[in-house]
Amino acid sequence: MTNDRKKPIRWGMVGGGRGSQIGYIHRSAAHRDDVFALAAGAFDIDPERGRAFGIDLGLDEARSYRDYAAMFAAEARRADGIEAVSIATPNNTHFAICKAALEHDLHVICEKPLCFTTAEAEELKALSEVRDRIVGVTYGYAGHQMIEQARAMVRNGDLGEIRIVNLQFAHGFHSAAVEEQNPATRWRVDPKFAGPSYVLGDVGTHPLYIAKVILPHLKIRRLLCTRQSFVKSRVPLEDNAVTLMEYDNGAIATIWSSAVNAGSMHGQKIRIVGSKASIEWWDERPNQLSYEIQGEPARILERGMDYLYPEARIDDRIGGGHPEGLFEAWANLYRRFGFAINRERGLAPAGIEELVFPDVDAGLEGVRWVETCVRSADAGGIWLDYR
Ligand code: NAI
Repeated sequence: MTNDRKKPIRWGMVGGGRGSQIGYIHRSAAHRDDVFALAAGAFDIDPERGRAFGIDLGLDEARSYRDYAAMFAAEARRADGIEAVSIATPNNTHFAICKAALEHDLHVICEKPLCFTTAEAEELKALSEVRDRIVGVTYGYAGHQMIEQARAMVRNGDLGEIRIVNLQFAHGFHSAAVEEQNPATRWRVDPKFAGPSYVLGDVGTHPLYIAKVILPHLKIRRLLCTRQSFVKSRVPLEDNAVTLMEYDNGAIATIWSSAVNAGSMHGQKIRIVGSKASIEWWDERPNQLSYEIQGEPARILERGMDYLYPEARIDDRIGGGHPEGLFEAWANLYRRFGFAINRERGLAPAGIEELVFPDVDAGLEGVRWVETCVRSADAGGIWLDYR
């Protein structure tokens, strides 16, 4: 698939300033296929540092703004004003910035969690519908090609009936109180900035979304969650949580979300067990998918190979054997955001009818899941209806 390279989407950024964790990958992914072109930004909570950074990135000085409100207002007055904006700021600001962007008729690509409450997420969804604008949410790992292979394998019945879904995103980076030294970690464990949860929202929502992509036919019927703060200064926010979920077909799922899995790097794993076979994907080896048929030797499927389903080849850039990684996965997502936006602009190429990307519903689902997990855990770990 190719995009309309002659007319890149005029794009702005809020947050993601110098030294931020996630700003660089947004810019790198958006620019990878020339689908977006950075035209403006309000990159930093510190206005001067943000302006200087935008100028260093090559922006016209007048379009490197002190804050997002000034940017949205000024860009709306320009004939060549931005058409889309990415939001890469701490969680507590997402709702207000998303809302303001949609009110200025911008397409939005927002970091997760989309906002703090289901009511806010529903408000953003309604606004995006009224304004006819795309809201994308950067569940970046979902752009890995082997996720598409897993989705196709489930759809084609290679696993049989789905029985068990075992998910985890359990890293060890915050096994000690590292936030005392590190400001980028400090806001994550402060409810004023992070919202009602730490690891459920920060990491658990990633495998939750990937499971939704692979298993679109399964609906969560009820869930039970328990959460802990092993580093006591993080109370009331959890640094570890386990969620148990039942699907409407009788399948059972768990999500282990953790920042205190000492010794683990990312530890994001997706294991889907069917009546005939299982598949397993690990984000630290994203080019591989383990395929284990009961009674046969396990096999490793490799990205970019002819034996994969066609859906898993669409985003292939370089063929099998050359490892692709998180930057390519994000670029794949940004390309899909671009297709969706170009569909609204009347510029989309043919063949993109079935476009799977984390949209406003995925953002809403993440927020609702976190909210329900927190309610269950804080009531002592009780089953709650999730339909
Ligand atoms: P960070 O603390 O490293 O950077 C935040 C940036 O936003 C800084 O440049 C800061 O100056 C700027 N900022 C803060 N308030 C602002 C405002 N009102 N206007 C303009 N700029 C503002 O944070 P990090 O780790 O980059 O996280 C940002 C967001 O990205 C969070 O919501 C986080 O959950 C999400 N994230 C998502 C990941 C993913 O895989 N999708 C991975 C890491 C973070």
